[in-house]
Amino acid sequence: MRIRSVELDNYRKFRHAALEVGDGVVGILGQNGSGKSTLVEAVAWAIYGNESSILRDGKDGVRWSNASQNEECRVTIDFDLESDHYRLSRWLKGKGQKVDASLEIDGMRIAHGDEAVTGEMVKRLGMDHKAFFVSVFARQKDLAALSALRPAERKKLVLSMLGIDQLDLVVETISADARSAKCDLDSLNAVIRAPDGTDRSEQARSELSRSQNDIARLSADESAMQAKLAEMEKYVLRAKQEMERAEKRSQQYQLAKSKVASLEADQRNMTARMGQIANDLKTLNEKSLGLPELEKNEEEHRRLDGERELLEDARVKHSQLTSLQQLMVQRNADIETYQKDRLSAESELAGLGDYETVIVQAEAAMQRHDEALQNAKGDAAWKIKEMERIQKEVREKRSKREEVHRQGPDSICPTCERRMDGQHDVLLRKLDQEIVQAEASLKELEGLKQKGDEFITRTQNQRTNQENKRKEALKLKERATGLLVRVRSSTDGMTRAQEEADRASRQIALLNDVKYDAPRYDQVRRRITELRPQVDRLMRLRTELQRRPPLEKESSDVQARLDNVMKELDEGKKALIDFNFDPEELRISRERYSQERDYKDAAVQSLSTLREEKARHQAAQAAARKRLEELEEHARRANELRHRQMELNVLLQVMKDFRANVTSRVLPTLAKYASELFVELTENKYGGLEIDDNYEIQVIDGSGTYGLSRFSGGEADLANLCLRLSISRLIAERSGQHVNFLVLDEIFGSQDSVRKRNILGLLSSLQRQFGQILLITHIDDIKDAVDNLVVVREQRDGSSLLGGDIDG
Ligand SMILES: Nc1ncnc2c1ncn2[C@@H]1O[C@H](COP(=O)(O)OP(=O)(O)OP(=O)(O)O)[C@@H](O)[C@H]1O
Ligand SMILES: [Mg+2]
Repeated sequence: MRIRSVELDNYRKFRHAALEVGDGVVGILGQNGSGKSTLVEAVAWAIYGNESSILRDGKDGVRWSNASQNEECRVTIDFDLESDHYRLSRWLKGKGQKVDASLEIDGMRIAHGDEAVTGEMVKRLGMDHKAFFVSVFARQKDLAALSALRPAERKKLVLSMLGIDQLDLVVETISADARSAKCDLDSLNAVIRAPDGTDRSEQARSELSRSQNDIARLSADESAMQAKLAEMEKYVLRAKQEMERAEKRSQQYQLAKSKVASLEADQRNMTARMGQIANDLKTLNEKSLGLPELEKNEEEHRRLDGERELLEDARVKHSQLTSLQQLMVQRNADIETYQKDRLSAESELAGLGDYETVIVQAEAAMQRHDEALQNAKGDAAWKIKEMERIQKEVREKRSKREEVHRQGPDSICPTCERRMDGQHDVLLRKLDQEIVQAEASLKELEGLKQKGDEFITRTQNQRTNQENKRKEALKLKERATGLLVRVRSSTDGMTRAQEEADRASRQIALLNDVKYDAPRYDQVRRRITELRPQVDRLMRLRTELQRRPPLEKESSDVQARLDNVMKELDEGKKALIDFNFDPEELRISRERYSQERDYKDAAVQSLSTLREEKARHQAAQAAARKRLEELEEHARRANELRHRQMELNVLLQVMKDFRANVTSRVLPTLAKYASELFVELTENKYGGLEIDDNYEIQVIDGSGTYGLSRFSGGEADLANLCLRLSISRLIAERSGQHVNFLVLDEIFGSQDSVRKRNILGLLSSLQRQFGQILLITHIDDIKDAVDNLVVVREQRDGSSLLGGDIDG
């Protein structure tokens, strides 16, 4: 297998990387964690998918953690295998990150789908993912593990790397199978044989024949018992039929008996009814004897009742006439009273005089007096006002005179503002004169006022007289009005009374001459009252007598039915005697039936007990047969196991021999390859390596052979590297050199620069076995010793890129 190119998309640290892989030694250089190992692990993932042991943290781990949901994670490798060119692609798709893959040869798709592609690759490479890893990947940590292990573990690891451990597994499985077969055989023998060594199947056989005998005996008993039971069932049936017959006869007898009893009851009832009817008819006949006398009374009652009606009519009219006549007398008296009253009112009215004229005259005089009074009062008011004015004038003049007098003649005149002198006295006099004149006017006015007052008093008295006269005349007028009303109402009353008296007189004339005989009326009524109970009795009697015809009819019906019943009764009694039934008959038949049934039940019980016992024996027989079958089966199986045990022992021996043979042939080859490498790498310093049965490495130094502990750490690591490379070479050779590339991941470990150079030189010579060697390291001084160089660089965003130049 030669890898041509690797392309990654969103795979772990790589967003995108494309690598052309040349032949020879390809150096993959980069810092720790830059993604060097990732590159070659991606190749394993492309080939084996999630089965490859490269998965560090599950399938989600291979996808670049910064990739978005819809970005695809994919690894594509191109490689040559034999003469074909392959293109293999594997990717994660969809939300569920399902793995899918495709494989093409020279552009033709030969497989599709995760598992199909893996299966095809396993077939074509001739190795599964585990063998692939062992043969292709040599890592420093594997080497460290190889040297650190104890001998037994080391051997186990190497054998497992070479796939020889599978043989151990086979040997182990066969011997486990042989052990288990022996164990099964022992436990089967313990079942087949009793502790005393006797064969248990013999015991089972004799048990079986015993139970067969028992069952035969019980079957014979069962048949005899069944025959007996059949006989008993016949007896039971017969007894039952007899009992049913007796029951039927008993029922018929009871029926006839109850019919006779019911006829007897009918007879009794009808006889009693006949007696009742005869009684009733007798009573009615007796009562009907009084009928003629009562009918006479009824006739008299009818006649008197007619007379009473006539008398009643006359009595009503007579009473009407009497009240009309009384009304007439009453109304005539009323007319007389009304007439008297009118006359008296009219004469009083005539005596009242001419009061209207008096009223008119008095009112006119009163009006005149009122006018005179109004004038006189106005005059008096003026005089009072005048008198008050003059009195005020006198008071003012007096005070002025006193003022002038007090100031004297030297005072200044308030009008002309000159001294008064002689004018002072003139003024005083003038004032005195004016005061005297004013007081004289006052006096005169007082005289006039007194006369005016006297006139007012007089006139008021006269007016009062006139007013009194008017009041008197008004009273007369009022009285006259009352009298006129009386005259009118008397006249109306007279008219009404006269009309009523006329109406009564006309009604009296209509009633003509009424004849009413009151004593006769009383006599008739009394007699009617006397006759009434007789008439009522007659009515009741007639109603009662209406019952006679139906009673007579019922009497003849009942008699006819009674005759029939008597006849049926005679026949029923006779039939009862003829039936000749004895109740003892039924009791005896019932007892017999119950006894026969008891016998049968006892027989059934015995049969069932017999059958139960037979069933028990049958179950025992079945169990014995089953046990026998089981024991026979166990014996057959024990035989088989004996054969198998023998076969397994033979097979075990064969496989052990085979394993020894393989191991013995692998070890010298491995030792030869490792020894050659070691001599070359140590530049013939040592004579070679030897590997013992436990895969412990011995170094040939001069004439002696020594364990690794004698040598330096670097030399021991080198020896282990040689062993590891030999294992890869052996596997590659065994697979037909299909996989002839090698990955060496940080294998320099503790090697010094000379050794490193030697190892690098050796790698070139290893190209005979491995066409391509991918050398992963962080040590950059190897760059000149490799045929191709790939530099892995980590970017700021955490992703990595590939480049060809170490300084780029
Ligand atoms: N799915 C992923 N997405 C992004 N980074 C990842 C993912 N899986 C692993 N890594 C990173 O890849 C790096 C490991 O890569 P790898 O082992 O290839 O490095 P290396 O160059 O071989 O280192 P060393 O020299 O130490 O062996 C780690 O830093 C890890 O965080
Ligand atoms: Mg690494």
